[in-house]
Amino acid sequence: MKNIILPFIFASILFSQIDYESEIQPIFDVHCTHCHVYGGAATLNMSSYEGVMSGGVSGPAIIAGDHVNSLLYSRITLPVGTDGSMPPNNPLSQSEIDLIVQWINEGALLSISNVAVLPRKIYLHQNYPNPFNPITLIRYDLSEDAFVNITIYDMLGNVIKTLVNGSRTAGSNTVEWNATDTKNETVSAGLYVFAIQSGELKQTKKMLLVK
Ligand code: HEC
Repeated sequence: MKNIILPFIFASILFSQIDYESEIQPIFDVHCTHCHVYGGAATLNMSSYEGVMSGGVSGPAIIAGDHVNSLLYSRITLPVGTDGSMPPNNPLSQSEIDLIVQWINEGALLSISNVAVLPRKIYLHQNYPNPFNPITLIRYDLSEDAFVNITIYDMLGNVIKTLVNGSRTAGSNTVEWNATDTKNETVSAGLYVFAIQSGELKQTKKMLLVK
C-alpha cells in the first residue's frame, strides 16, 4: 500500500500549481496595492497580473521560473526596516512568501489551466502623408490600454517635440504633427525620426519634411 500511495502524494505535491487570481493576487491586494496602483509607487502596478508582469521603474519584477533573481522576491525578503524592504513596515508571512516563490518557480503563469497570456504589442505605422508639408498623421496600434510616449527627434537624436505622453486605449490611435518644435516654432526641412515607447516596447520610423 505504502509503495503505491507515497509516489502518488509526491507527484501531487510536485504538480500542485498555484492559481494566480485566487492565491497570489489576494496577497498583493492586502499588502501592496494601496501603494502599487497604476502610476503609483515605482510605477509598479500590482492590481492585476498584467501590471505585476510589466514591472516597475527598475524593469521586470518577476523572472518566471527564477525566484532568486526576481526583484519582487528580493524586496519581500529584505529584513524589515532595511531600505527597500517591501511592504515597508508589515512583512509578509513566511507562508505568503512561500506561495509567491512557488508561483514564480512554476513559471509565474496567470492560470493553472496554462492559458497563454497574449504578449502585449504595439505597432507604429508609417506617417501619412510622407513626405509632408507641414502636417502629417502618425497612427499607432495598441493591443491593450497602455501608457504611451511618442516623440519626434532630429537625425542627431535631439528631442524636437513630444506628441503623446499618457494613457491611451487599446486599438488604433492617431496623432498629428504640424512640423513645430517644443517652442511651437516651425522646424527646417529634412529627415526626422518618430518613436513610440510603451514600457519596454519601442519602435521608430523616419519621415521627410519638405518645404
Ligand atoms: C506603503 C507603500 C508601499 C507598500 C505597502 C508596498 N510598497 Fe513596494 N514600493 C513602495 C515605494 C515608495 C517604492 C519605490 C522606492 C523603492 O524602490 O524602495 C516601492 C518599490 C517596490 C519595488 C521595486 C520596483 C521597481 O521597479 O523599482 C518592488 C518590487 C515592490 N515595491 C514590491 C512590493 C510588494 C511585493 C509589496 C507588497 C507585498 C509592496 N511593494 C508594498 C511603496 C510600497
